[in-house]
Amino acid sequence: MRRFKLQILTAAALFGLALTVSAAPGEYVGVAVCTKCHAVQGDSWAGTTHAKAFDSLKANTKVEEKKKAKLDPAKDYTKDKDCIGCHSTGYGKPGGYKIGAAPGGEMALGSVGCESCHGPGEGYRDEHAAAEKQFVRASKTTPRKKLVGLGEIFDYERACAVCHLNYQGSPLKGAKAPFTPFTPAVDAKYKYDFDKAVRTKALHEHYKLKGSFEGEPLPKVRAEFQKTAKEIPE
Ligand code: HEC
Ligand code: HEC
Ligand code: HEC
Ligand code: HEC
Repeated sequence: MRRFKLQILTAAALFGLALTVSAAPGEYVGVAVCTKCHAVQGDSWAGTTHAKAFDSLKANTKVEEKKKAKLDPAKDYTKDKDCIGCHSTGYGKPGGYKIGAAPGGEMALGSVGCESCHGPGEGYRDEHAAAEKQFVRASKTTPRKKLVGLGEIFDYERACAVCHLNYQGSPLKGAKAPFTPFTPAVDAKYKYDFDKAVRTKALHEHYKLKGSFEGEPLPKVRAEFQKTAKEIPE
């Protein structure tokens, strides 16, 4: 079901345009697919506020916070397209969360799930297992670049920013509505700094990787987090 968008501009030379060939990433597959192989990250993620982000859209939750942001605490925002994009996974994209769907269930897309940060999984999930097999059997590594072509994200700064810094006057280039209502102007505690945020309990705990993948793009925080990462229990 992978769809490739092939855009070959034959007039490239004539008009000085770039020749672009881009592969569209696959669909969103949901948390349950990832946690089949990454159970430890899944258990840890389930305890984070990201896993419960949908609940904040329900009526009569976070009452004081909503009042302060000039939202109506008695209103149910769970079906509101001005909210759901950042409180679920892949809204408006193939395979992503659809308004009205149960937030949990099979795919559990009604949360800020694995694929909100790591990218839609349909294209790369099989490559993970294949690469590890090859690594364990033949000590052969796979270039991480291959995963990028399959839709996996390693630029976490950007992945987080599209939700956390999407408001008018933020440092995010190309911010566009719907904006987050919780900005530093509402309360200084909403000031967002990637370097701090990525080291908080909002993120799942980190576990040792074998090293099946290598090379660029290596996430900036990888070496640091792997140094103190836990062993995956047998
Ligand atoms: C799909 C949108 C989305 C993405 C992507 C995202 N977040 Fe969040 N984040 C949220 C929402 C929504 C909340 C608020 C959850 C709630 O309380 O309902 C939140 C909460 C947080 C908090 C506050 C947690 C707390 O306990 O108070 C931190 C810190 C944070 N995120 C860091 C990050 C970092 C770092 C990344 C990227 C690695 C990231 N987020 C990616 C939407 C997102
Ligand atoms: C552009 C992304 C985005 C949109 C759109 C968005 N949110 Fe959020 N929301 C966030 C992020 C990011 C946070 C976490 C802020 C933090 O803790 O720094 C958050 C946090 C919250 C919180 C928890 C605040 C707290 O202090 O615990 C509530 C409640 C909430 N959002 C409700 C809504 C509602 C209702 C809407 C629609 C009217 C909405 N959000 C639209 C990104 C968004
Ligand atoms: C809020 C963003 C965010 C969410 C949600 C998220 N991750 Fe991560 N994940 C990260 C960051 C940041 C790292 C650390 C950087 C790195 O090593 O790639 C990471 C690292 C990993 C790693 C590498 C090994 C490790 O433990 O550090 C795996 C595997 C992983 N995540 C799987 C998952 C799975 C499975 C889920 C869903 C259950 C998930 N992640 C949810 C941001 C996120
Ligand atoms: C069939 C099993 C399987 C599935 C399904 C799977 N993974 Fe993986 N994943 C692995 C294995 C094995 C590795 C390599 C581990 C190593 O090198 O130790 C890996 C590696 C990773 C890494 C680190 C890649 C790197 O840069 O080295 C991340 C992040 C990750 N997985 C996230 C996810 C997410 C998110 C999903 C769901 C969309 C997912 N995985 C689905 C088995 C799987």
